[in-house]
Amino acid sequence: MTKTKALGAAALLATLAGAAPAQTTAAVDANLARNLAATCANCHGTNGNARGDMLVLAGAPAESTIAKMAAFKSGALPATIMHQIAKGYTDEQIRLIAGYFAAQPRK
Ligand code: HEC
Repeated sequence: MTKTKALGAAALLATLAGAAPAQTTAAVDANLARNLAATCANCHGTNGNARGDMLVLAGAPAESTIAKMAAFKSGALPATIMHQIAKGYTDEQIRLIAGYFAAQPRK
């Protein structure tokens, strides 16, 4: 449900971006990456800083996250849940999410 909400908001933002002047596009794109990454927070923590034994995504190189998501999608990387989650995102969305987490400081 969280994902649906975020994607609905993303679609709305994308619509607004189309109508907005060029100089506001970068800010809208930054929110899109953050909003998409927020759908991972239930398990990987706020801004990718997971608690306990969960895997931390904050500060992970974008190429590494992109490669792992692709491997989850294809089934090359065995998973309990990520193989399903990864299929819910386009390559472009995964690129945005990976870039967002790469820029987050590890806490
Ligand atoms: C319901 C909990 C859950 C959600 C939501 C979730 N993950 Fe995961 N994630 C896991 C688990 C559990 C693993 C370990 C692999 C497995 O068993 O699926 C994992 C592993 C990963 C890994 C591998 C990390 C490593 O160090 O090897 C990446 C990358 C990842 N997740 C990215 C994401 C991204 C990006 C999102 C949001 C789009 C996300 N996850 C949402 C539970 C979740």
